[in-house]
Amino acid sequence: MKKIRISNLSFSYPTEKNGKLPVLNDINLEIKAGDFVVVLGESGCGKTTFLNLIAGFLKPTGGEVYVDDERITAPHFSRSLIFQQPLLLPWLNVNDNIAFGCKLRRDFDHLSGRITNFIKLMGLEGFEQVLPDTLSLGMAQRVAIARSLIGAPEILLLDVPFTALDFNTRSRLQNELTKLWLKLKFTSVFVTHSIEEALTVGKKIVIFSNRPARVMHTIELEPEIPRDINNEIMVSLKVDIQKRFQNINNR
Ligand SMILES: Nc1ncnc2c1ncn2[C@@H]1O[C@H](COP(=O)(O)OP(=O)(O)O)[C@@H](O)[C@H]1O
Ligand SMILES: [Mg+2]
Repeated sequence: MKKIRISNLSFSYPTEKNGKLPVLNDINLEIKAGDFVVVLGESGCGKTTFLNLIAGFLKPTGGEVYVDDERITAPHFSRSLIFQQPLLLPWLNVNDNIAFGCKLRRDFDHLSGRITNFIKLMGLEGFEQVLPDTLSLGMAQRVAIARSLIGAPEILLLDVPFTALDFNTRSRLQNELTKLWLKLKFTSVFVTHSIEEALTVGKKIVIFSNRPARVMHTIELEPEIPRDINNEIMVSLKVDIQKRFQNINNR
């Protein structure tokens, strides 16, 4: 397990005529090894940019991101990213999609056993030879999760991974992801704009302001999982978070 340290992180995109669009503004955050942090913020506030900086796809314009004590300067397979869309390769069957990254890295050690294991973990038995276009979106997203986790990433980054799913599938996958996290013990940063989702899967919630994002507030949640988000404490937390967002927007 690895910890992530985000130190005075700022980021701007270049715009025309040498201008810049500030997106992240001096973010400081310590994410403990094995933690499950949910970043909650409104559309366009900078959440995807933030994940891309942790992944190493973007370079900070100010400050640094460290994993343990190593400064991130480039992507690495030990930090895996899961997106809203599964982005499977349409010409490869489920097994080959799951194995794709391992084969690229020539990581063949016990590969077929590991594939079978993830097929079971993700409830994909019977679909091993199927092509992605015949899968439901929920099944396809399971394949994408298996493809990420089979490489035993130390850090799993998730960018609104369940937003495109119907309510029931979404709840089921939230639950399954939590179980996988308890079992496999990766450090997780999960981005969402849903307060309910943050309360369901998070161990800690970090609330971003609107762009340029700053950390507005952090909330530590009770460790027990799965969580009943309809109990009194959770409902009052939800109202509290809603109010914080109203305040952001009334500024
Ligand atoms: N590659 C890019 N070039 C320029 N501006 C971008 C780029 N990607 C995102 N942006 C802008 O940066 C801001 C934050 O985007 P993003 O990180 O995608 O937000 P979020 O994921 O929270 O919706 C938005 O205003 C968006 O338009
Ligand atoms: Mg985004």
